Amino acid sequence: SRAINLAVIPGDGIGQEVVAQGLKVLSAVLPRDVKLETREYDLGARRWHATGETLPDEDLESLRGHDAILLGAIGDPSVPSGVLERGLLLKLRFAFDLFVNLRPSKLFPGTATPLEGRPDIDFVVVREGTEGPYAGNGGTLRTGTPAEIATEVSVNTAYGVERVVRDAYERASARPRKKLTLVHKNNVLVHAGHLWKRIFDRVGAEYPDVTTDYLHVDAATIFFVTQPERFDVIVTDNLFGDILTDLAAAVTGGIGLAASGNINPTGNFPSMFEPVHGSAPDIAGQGKADPTATVLSVALMLQHLGHTEEAARIEAAVTADLAERDAVRTTDEIGDALAARVAD
Ligand code: IPM
Ligand code: MN
Repeated sequence: SRAINLAVIPGDGIGQEVVAQGLKVLSAVLPRDVKLETREYDLGARRWHATGETLPDEDLESLRGHDAILLGAIGDPSVPSGVLERGLLLKLRFAFDLFVNLRPSKLFPGTATPLEGRPDIDFVVVREGTEGPYAGNGGTLRTGTPAEIATEVSVNTAYGVERVVRDAYERASARPRKKLTLVHKNNVLVHAGHLWKRIFDRVGAEYPDVTTDYLHVDAATIFFVTQPERFDVIVTDNLFGDILTDLAAAVTGGIGLAASGNINPTGNFPSMFEPVHGSAPDIAGQGKADPTATVLSVALMLQHLGHTEEAARIEAAVTADLAERDAVRTTDEIGDALAARVAD
């Protein structure tokens, strides 16, 4: 349809500021005949302090009815670690079965990188989003004693692995270089690691045009720094993907530019788009946050919803803006500049 019914969860800290800029650019880029409806959800630290709720069923049901969700950031030092992360962010990823956590990394012209020789970096990490050590499977025995044992069991189902691996092959096959790298640690994590490798090889037989590669995660971190241009599409589990994508952000202009989509490709649930960065309470409310990661997440959302041309216009605007960034600008000024560029 020519309307977008968007749920907005600004969340905590700088989430509020960056989401406002994301919406500004979204409004500016959409053609007149695409009607944008937004509904804001009050979820995060404020709500938890006021009511003790993180994500009640009622909100979850209501969120389900939207075409997509735009999320700012979740987490606040005034809330015990894990409460909002598990009770809100991960709950959304699990409840809406957002199994493709898509995290592109591109070194835009004009942006900083600690890497020598400005390698040509343009890859995308397909991080599994619903399983692995994030599943919450585990517990403690003899809690609080010197004999305490804590387990955190990684859950890997053939179903869950195959669907994300398949999605990664599809994405690799649609890109010019058509290369897919599986990252795991199957020399040590032999149970999960071999499941991933077997499924990766079996599904790969259906994609003869895609070149494949395998790397242990520790080796992958070396190549992210010494040879990042070797990567095109990477598929990996939830925790490896979490760690690798922060490293990827650090070598491609920083966390202020890293966008992500939590996608359910079946369309049975709304997909959720969010910057990779957190709520950054130390700079919240000061206009210092870079809204670019959120704006690029909006582009991923438009792409997912089939508004390919508008997505490309946002990426072009960001590319041009980054190439010309010199003076320090506020969150609002960057948002204004990007909105002006996409409106041209
Ligand atoms: C991310 C974050 C989350 C994750 C946290 C906040 C639960 O680090 O989106 O990368 O680990 O997935
Ligand atoms: Mn992370």
